[in-house]
Amino acid sequence: MVATPVKPATERKETILTPRFYTTDFAAMANMDIKGNQADYEAILQEFKADYNRRHFVRDQEFEQSWAHLDEKTKEHFRFFLESSCTSEFSGFLLYKEIAVRIKDKNPIVAECFNLMSRDEARHAGFLNKAMQDFDMVLDLSTLSKSKDYVYFAPKFIFYATYLSEKIGYWRYIKIHQHLAAHPENRIYPIFKFFESWCQDESRHGDFCNLLLRTDRKNVEGWQAKLWSRFFLLSVFATMYLNDLCNRKEFYEALGMNTEEYVVAVLKDTNRDSQKAFPVVLDLDNEEFWQRLRACIPSMNAINKIQSGDSPKLVKALQKLPHQLFLGWQFLRLFLMKPVECPKGVIL
Ligand SMILES: [Fe+2]
Ligand SMILES: [Fe+2]
Repeated sequence: MVATPVKPATERKETILTPRFYTTDFAAMANMDIKGNQADYEAILQEFKADYNRRHFVRDQEFEQSWAHLDEKTKEHFRFFLESSCTSEFSGFLLYKEIAVRIKDKNPIVAECFNLMSRDEARHAGFLNKAMQDFDMVLDLSTLSKSKDYVYFAPKFIFYATYLSEKIGYWRYIKIHQHLAAHPENRIYPIFKFFESWCQDESRHGDFCNLLLRTDRKNVEGWQAKLWSRFFLLSVFATMYLNDLCNRKEFYEALGMNTEEYVVAVLKDTNRDSQKAFPVVLDLDNEEFWQRLRACIPSMNAINKIQSGDSPKLVKALQKLPHQLFLGWQFLRLFLMKPVECPKGVIL
């Protein structure tokens, strides 16, 4: 079907929860010493080369139909989901590709792993981009990469952040797939049947990021590693929780899901998985954690509403300030909550 573009996605407003693009210290990455873990790197490189999903991302006949029967609201929620997912996948592609190109002379094995991960992310982004056209939307990825601001992260912070975003991506995709496998009447668009194999790519990417993290033991041992682990776990978890509850609730409901139950399950599984990578994880069995996150929802909704209004910048900044202070206080209290120590053997 040929769709009429109604709205270029890049015209949409950015929020503090919009996916970002990243850059890093390529020279430091090129000089990473992997001798102590050489066999593990070679093993994971063989996994990437096997390319299990080589023939997976092919649109079949089920896509060849009109989606005009879906109501406008559902389509709008789909567009938002597809756009933010596509941007995240594309952001991964750009970062991994750039690292691969910049370090290939000095660190060829790690570079090849990044290169093959960028291959996977390009496939994911391309597949989502095609789906967007089914919903009358065009996302020009080449323009997007030029118009977005790049955020600098030192290599070890890239490793913490990408490990978590890959593993959380795995749990997000697999749980949607599992829900729709149990409730096929809610699978209103065929992209979801691709999620089961798709999420295996994300899991492999996460395992590689875990290997990058533990190549320097300082990233996974000692008090600084513990503080950074808590910081990244909380940042990624709070972002996903608030994004889903404040911006994507209707999308999950269109699939017959309970958004809060879904987010809680994804975060608990990601947190449990993270014991394999981090020296501490968050205590998600402590009800205070969820109470504080839930308390942030009205402030996040208020900020989004102010942001999308027509008031002058200064007025918006003043209106947002009390909500931002409230969120800052809740995040600080969440950060200071006692974490759970990971069993020593798990991170080896
Ligand atoms: Fe991906
Ligand atoms: Fe990935």
